[in-house]
Amino acid sequence: MSSIDSVLKENRLFPPSDDFRVKANVSGMEGYNALCEQANRDYEGFWADLGRELVSWNKPFTKVLNDSNAPFFKWFEDGQLNISYNCLDRHLDARGDKTAIIFEADDGTAEHVSYRQLHARVCQFANGLKLLGVKKGDRVVVYMPHTVEAVVAMQACARIGAIHSVVFGGFSAGALRDRIQDAQAKIVITANEGFRGGKPVPLKATVDEALTLEGSESIEKVVVLRRLENSSAAFNDARDVWWHELVEGQPTQCEPEWVDAEHPLFILYTSGSTGKPKGIQHSTGGYLLGALTTMKWVFDYREGDVYWCTADVGWITGHSYVAYGPLAIGATQVVFEGVPTYPDAGRFWQMIAKHKVTTFYTAPTAIRSLIKLGADLPKQHDLSSLRLLGTVGEPINPEAWIWYHEVVGGGRCPIVDTWWQTETGANMIAPLPGAVATKPGSCTLPIPGIIADIVDEAGAPVEPGKGGFLVVRKPWPSMVRTIWNDPERFKKTYFPEDFNGQLYLAGDSAHFDENGYIWIMGRVDDVLNVSGHRLGTMEIESALVANPLVAEAAVVGKPHEIKGESVCAFVVLKGARPEGDDAKRIAKELREWVAHEIGKIAMPDEIRFGDNLPKTRSGKIMRRLLRDIAKGQEITQDTSTLENPAILDQLAKSAI
Ligand code: PRX
Repeated sequence: MSSIDSVLKENRLFPPSDDFRVKANVSGMEGYNALCEQANRDYEGFWADLGRELVSWNKPFTKVLNDSNAPFFKWFEDGQLNISYNCLDRHLDARGDKTAIIFEADDGTAEHVSYRQLHARVCQFANGLKLLGVKKGDRVVVYMPHTVEAVVAMQACARIGAIHSVVFGGFSAGALRDRIQDAQAKIVITANEGFRGGKPVPLKATVDEALTLEGSESIEKVVVLRRLENSSAAFNDARDVWWHELVEGQPTQCEPEWVDAEHPLFILYTSGSTGKPKGIQHSTGGYLLGALTTMKWVFDYREGDVYWCTADVGWITGHSYVAYGPLAIGATQVVFEGVPTYPDAGRFWQMIAKHKVTTFYTAPTAIRSLIKLGADLPKQHDLSSLRLLGTVGEPINPEAWIWYHEVVGGGRCPIVDTWWQTETGANMIAPLPGAVATKPGSCTLPIPGIIADIVDEAGAPVEPGKGGFLVVRKPWPSMVRTIWNDPERFKKTYFPEDFNGQLYLAGDSAHFDENGYIWIMGRVDDVLNVSGHRLGTMEIESALVANPLVAEAAVVGKPHEIKGESVCAFVVLKGARPEGDDAKRIAKELREWVAHEIGKIAMPDEIRFGDNLPKTRSGKIMRRLLRDIAKGQEITQDTSTLENPAILDQLAKSAI
């Protein structure tokens, strides 16, 4: 727990500079407090005002929150809108020629796309989708490289009321099939290849493989972007359609489909503590409002900003802060296909200088790896355009925070450490940078209108310094609406009976400090956070036991300097426990197996073989002990309830 200890000792305070505060959208603590008071006084009125101010409605709403079927909350339910209209059409008069997207490809070539051009491309593609028979409510899987076309595909779905389900390009054929099957998707949109770090990523080949697997029969058509001229990817004339042929000759206008505010905009699968990934279902109106308020307050958006969120559209951050938020607010944003370390670890800094980025949003894991690869590299680039920095996905250790602040931000840029989740749709706890003084490692205070709290097992508030469950007391507009196909699981997971079904349970532990600042301590369930990516231990275990060699497996997280957490798997084979070169060979095979079953992000860093796993007499695996072994810690806890205590020693010595 050394990272938590160091976080606990951190109490340096970084107030916004006068200059930043004066110009900010929410200025000073007076500004922040005024908003919070407004939300306290009239919660629905607060959100309704924002909804009217920031969102363009085709039919204005008259109802704000409907909680009659809690926890299946509805917001703005009689309002009608289209999110693509909000992101594109409404900007055309005032900013049609403004750059919406500066796209930089993996190889460094850049392309500027104006709002007018993006609108035309989205309309053409939306018309193409209609031609393929895609209708309002149909599910469309997007399995794309992080390119302009990924955004076009998402926006085009939204334009015609189709529900997109973006699957990160690093997921395997099996994971893709699972998501296709659960959503009963009709179409997959993909590219023949993607590019990352100078290497092609065989997206189409993975789609082809997924479509040979049982369960993917709902797919009728595959739209393929020709990202690489000479790809060896197969093309099935009966099923596959080239993107460029689909849009050729299509009108550059497409009337948006006006949908109810509660119409599902997308499903995004994320890992839970048990079973298969959950299809997190988001709404249209409330979700858009969450993206817009946080663009304005947390990212302090102002005309002239060049915004860059480095997240891939395969994750929620890439949804809210690439595909929707920046466009909805009319920003110019950078979309980058590649990785931070190619061609070298100066890529981010070089791109910030080249595109004069003002607002930069990335993950602590990227920051830590870039420090390691070149702590002085930012100094070789002109980063004076930056005015605001952000982080997301995992706790940031104070050392990395300070480096980010000083070396990247030149000491002048506030850092917004934003806590939120796939389920929350938008930032929830984060400093408003012109108001809230920051502390390295704390995500500080809830955003106005978000009633976050920390409670004990009985649901009672905890005192400062004491850890507890992070909860949200009131529904908010951009919250998850349900788990696709599984409303019961939605209820049980997020509004458990333990808290009378009244509190949204985030699944994180946290504590308040003496100033009421929130410090996130980590997940309370069996979810790992590896490089800011959420992975369920159960998913990896199921993948391992699906291998014919494996009898049993238990997966735990282990602290990792760069990734935050790494995956450590304890494995019992059906045959004898392997040793020496045999163990190495089988471990390699199993790692590749997991990469094939789920994706490379889930590959165990470490595999330990045992004759058995430490179990209680009732057969329960004692993961706590496995966590200690993974960390290389001596076991001091009582092990008398163990069926087989000798196994601990064997596993402790089993590192390969
Ligand atoms: O544990 C928290 C961690 O990431 C989880 C949510 O993961 P996901 O749904 O994939 O969304 C990530 C991007 C929004 C949370 O339950 N987490 C996210 N942001 C932070 C964080 N932990 C600490 N500090 C953060 N700023």
